Amino acid sequence: MVKFLVGLAALASVAFADITFSCIGYPSVSTNTFGVSINGVITKLVANETTFPVWSGVVPGTTSAVQYSYVELNAAGTAVKTEAFVRKLNQTTDTWTENEFFERPVTHHVVPRLPYTYLATYPSKSKAFKETQIATLHLNGDKAAIDALNANPEAETEARVIFRFINAKTIYTQTNITLRTSGKSSKEFAKQSYKIKFDTDFNQTFFSRPNLKLRSMATEPTYLREKMYIDTLNAVGVPTQQGSYVRLYINNEPYGLYLMVDDIKKSFLKQTVHGGENVIPGSLIQANAPTLTEQADLAYKGPLTAAYGKETYTMQNLGNNPVTEPLSQLITFMKDLQDFNPATTADPVGYWNNTRLDLDGFLRNMALEYLFGGFDNYWMAGSNYFIYFNPTLGTSGKWQWLPTDFDGTFGNGAEIDPKGSYKALYNFQPDHPLVSKLIINNTVINGLFTTILKEIVSTTFKPEAMNPHIEAINKMISLDAQWDLSLTRKSPGKNPGFTFDDFNNNLVNITKDMSGAIKPWVAQRAAAVSTELAFQIPAGTVDRVPPPPRKGGNGDDDNDNEDTPEKGGNASHNNGAASLTASAMALVAMVASSLMLFA
Ligand SMILES: *[C@@H]1O[C@H](CO)[C@@H](O)[C@H](O)[C@H]1NC(C)=O
Ligand SMILES: *[C@@H]1O[C@H](CO)[C@@H](O)[C@H](O)[C@H]1NC(C)=O
Ligand SMILES: *[C@@H]1O[C@H](CO)[C@@H](O)[C@H](O)[C@H]1NC(C)=O
Ligand SMILES: *[C@@H]1O[C@H](CO)[C@@H](O)[C@H](O)[C@H]1NC(C)=O
Ligand SMILES: *[C@@H]1O[C@H](CO)[C@@H](O)[C@H](O)[C@H]1NC(C)=O
Ligand SMILES: *[C@@H]1O[C@H](CO)[C@@H](O)[C@H](O)[C@H]1NC(C)=O
Ligand SMILES: *[C@@H]1O[C@H](CO)[C@@H](O)[C@H](O)[C@H]1NC(C)=O
Ligand SMILES: *[C@@H]1O[C@H](CO)[C@@H](O)[C@H](O)[C@H]1NC(C)=O
Repeated sequence: MVKFLVGLAALASVAFADITFSCIGYPSVSTNTFGVSINGVITKLVANETTFPVWSGVVPGTTSAVQYSYVELNAAGTAVKTEAFVRKLNQTTDTWTENEFFERPVTHHVVPRLPYTYLATYPSKSKAFKETQIATLHLNGDKAAIDALNANPEAETEARVIFRFINAKTIYTQTNITLRTSGKSSKEFAKQSYKIKFDTDFNQTFFSRPNLKLRSMATEPTYLREKMYIDTLNAVGVPTQQGSYVRLYINNEPYGLYLMVDDIKKSFLKQTVHGGENVIPGSLIQANAPTLTEQADLAYKGPLTAAYGKETYTMQNLGNNPVTEPLSQLITFMKDLQDFNPATTADPVGYWNNTRLDLDGFLRNMALEYLFGGFDNYWMAGSNYFIYFNPTLGTSGKWQWLPTDFDGTFGNGAEIDPKGSYKALYNFQPDHPLVSKLIINNTVINGLFTTILKEIVSTTFKPEAMNPHIEAINKMISLDAQWDLSLTRKSPGKNPGFTFDDFNNNLVNITKDMSGAIKPWVAQRAAAVSTELAFQIPAGTVDRVPPPPRKGGNGDDDNDNEDTPEKGGNASHNNGAASLTASAMALVAMVASSLMLFA
């Protein structure tokens, strides 16, 4: 009897079950398939047109202590490639695996989050951006259309694609989605950036994020400059594009590792700035510097829209402006900026913050531009931001700063001294008056700015807080970066020729084309701010404010309990039986009774 009880106890932890395995795999030749190998016994997995490249299958009578590897099989069913490591189920109660990418041993990574300096405005709930997984984007479209888009990125042609998003728990498909190349100078690179548009008028959607950009990260070797900036914006309470890594395949060809971010369109205002609420959005303008002399500097040039470059200030949402004068509300703001005298205006904070500008948001944005050395944003280049008249701020609305494009940071693109003062960041030739007048020349607002610098450096932007995040992301994307660097690019154009050594070394050393390295940059910038503003950076990584109230959103953990597919969507979940199947129970009973015979 004792033996019987011991036998049962062992059975309880190593139950026999039908276990469903799911592997994400692209066959190296089209007739190949995938399988799962358990103790040398291979079971074929199947993919069909609604699941490819996810290969699934049930292995009956497996124990939950199973050790397995995925294998690529040739047409005869013989393994041609076997994973060089062994996988285990998460928990002995699992009867299914998540979607696990072939030859990537880790599906869920551990990424310590950055401490919060200011309360975040949190985006609405969405499954689109997971912090600790690398999703797979599987696109299929007309070959000629895709080739045309890659061959001539400037032409802005579009292709219609079937879009499939695959993460650990989800396979989500939508048809007839628009794919284009994206960016300006990024089109000069052999690895293109893309944008993807879901037409909500036709009920196309992607977890409430219908406008996406796939950022190639081709200009820098670490693949984490933009991601670090986005994560820091979240930690300092600036509503921002979210960003997470994806592997991109188009027509079954590998395109590489991308950072998938929101494209700032009307839906972004609703889902991110307004947290999913229905608000009639105000005026939204995209601000750029098409040439060195045409910058979105916010300098007043008279009352008419025609005086402002169309590519410098591009109207994205009209708001309350007349159709004939789409910039009129922003022009009033520029006139107010011209009229603002930093030396004599009586209540400078009230002048801006009461009705004109979300001053705190603007100052936090400028603090990050300085801390990261953003050479291609407003402070230094009069470029790469959106300015949004948010009707819900203050009593009657205010302009709000929405930054974008952060790859030109940490010494990528321009030589900036990380030890330099914010006062020496730029000579204001030409003038960027929102910085020179408010931050440099107005004593009160300068005081607010330096307080913000101090608070951010004390909490988020310091080695103790940033380094674990940097290291974890570097580790998470390491295999995919290596894969990315091995790929043949699809477009004509520049290939900077970074190596996997650069990928790792630029975290600590200056490498090819870069004038800064990530970790020393953070250390030197933080130390310089602490010296200039005469304060000690406190030890520790505690939040200055509590984490934002969760709307169930994305962010730093990987809570995936939002499993209801969106209306109009096409999510399918391959979560096999949650408990032991009938046949497994029968097997348990059978083994138990045979044990009883021996007792
Ligand atoms: C494809 O495979 C999935 C999962 O195995 C299954 O649920 C679905 O019914 C299959 N679809 C077709 C069209 O065979
Ligand atoms: C495996 O563990 C991770 C956390 O480490 C969890 O998020 C995931 O859902 C687990 N997978 C399954 C199949 O339970
Ligand atoms: C694809 O979507 C566009 C709108 O984005 C629509 O005009 C077109 O009719 C759709 N085509 C098909 C085949 O559904
Ligand atoms: C979108 O969905 C709504 C509600 O389900 C439906 O009334 C409408 O006809 C759909 N529009 C298109 C273009 O399919
Ligand atoms: C600016 O105004 C907001 C209210 O709209 C307020 O919460 C904030 O504290 C003000 N900032 C400053 C620096 O006064
Ligand atoms: C800022 O102050 C300096 C020194 O008083 C002055 O030369 C400069 O013109 C001022 N700039 C602006 C934009 O007010
Ligand atoms: C960084 O550079 C130093 C000095 O050249 C060298 O000793 C060190 O190995 C380098 N570290 C990395 C990770 O490249
Ligand atoms: C979902 O996918 C199935 C199979 O591919 C298709 O028949 C159906 O129309 C899709 N539904 C939507 C809403 O796209």
